[in-house]
Amino acid sequence: MSAIFQKANTAVITGGASGIGLALAHKCVGYGMRVVVADWDTGRLDEARRSLGAGATALRVDVAKTEDWAALKTHVVRELGGQVNLLALNAGVSGGGTSFNNSEGEGSGVQGLETWRKVVDVNFFGVVNGITTFLPLIREMVEKKEEGKEGEEARIIITGSKQGITNPPGNPAYNASKAAVRSVAEQLSFDLRAVKGVAVHLLIPGWTWTPLAGAVGGKAKPEAAWTAEQVVEFLEGKMREGEEKGDEKKFWVLCPDNDVSEETDRKRMLWTADDPVKGRLPLSRWRDEYNLEFEAWMKGRGGL
Ligand SMILES: NC(=O)c1ccc[n+]([C@@H]2O[C@H](COP(=O)([O-])OP(=O)(O)OC[C@H]3O[C@@H](n4cnc5c(N)ncnc54)[C@H](O)[C@@H]3O)[C@@H](O)[C@H]2O)c1
Repeated sequence: MSAIFQKANTAVITGGASGIGLALAHKCVGYGMRVVVADWDTGRLDEARRSLGAGATALRVDVAKTEDWAALKTHVVRELGGQVNLLALNAGVSGGGTSFNNSEGEGSGVQGLETWRKVVDVNFFGVVNGITTFLPLIREMVEKKEEGKEGEEARIIITGSKQGITNPPGNPAYNASKAAVRSVAEQLSFDLRAVKGVAVHLLIPGWTWTPLAGAVGGKAKPEAAWTAEQVVEFLEGKMREGEEKGDEKKFWVLCPDNDVSEETDRKRMLWTADDPVKGRLPLSRWRDEYNLEFEAWMKGRGGL
């Protein structure tokens, strides 16, 4: 039985009104947990309130705005008594485009500054704001336990992306924001290494069929993509596995999808990590001159 997915526990989930966040909210409500969903989209929030029922409250929060985080904290103190067992910093947006073009393909010469700011504000500062707002509360909560008083377990789940690790061409603001998210999550995990009862997980979904990744206008899910529910099942499985092995601080939750196995991901990541080591040109995986070498790497042991 997971220490977190339990009836008396609570969850705060940003971007919780859609996709992976909503699937996580349903999982928590299913365990009888009290859930606060924080999202920016009022239409999705209304729908989430209806589908999640009485176990959840939903608040309009722009994760980029510190004043909205202050209001969320007040809400959490009022609704959950300040108890946060699961903090999911998950809200995200995509930017699209390239270094030369914005997402509409307009060749303005550079990716629009507005896109850069929005993507970094939501994806990166959305995580940083969440940490700075809730970390003191969470530390206080779990450290009570260390003093032998009644305390709580907590997990901070931060949603990253493979794009923040392998940096595929296109969507430069998104990739940069997710690389920064990875960095912050790693630092947080390290800084909390000696604090018992709390762990940080970097959730790295594969292709997941959500609005952010193409699930709009009633389009059918492509075979290759996972559902948001599959991602959340995988996350719970990894968390439980870590706890059972006494390794609850296990950090990486690297999700496959129906097209890309964990082994393929690991080989791709090792190839990317080798670019600076070998002095290859950046994004070598996608450059013609490295095609044959990359194919051979993937067919072989790929550094594993
Ligand atoms: N879907 C994928 O294939 C995939 C792959 C890797 C990583 N991710 C990451 O997973 C996370 C969840 O995305 P998803 O795929 O479930 O997409 P989604 O679009 O279904 O959900 C994202 C949610 O974030 C909310 N949001 C956006 N901006 C916000 C803001 N400023 N304040 C508060 N909420 C805001 C949206 O309203 C939406 O409800 C994101 O961080 C995304 O980058 C997704």
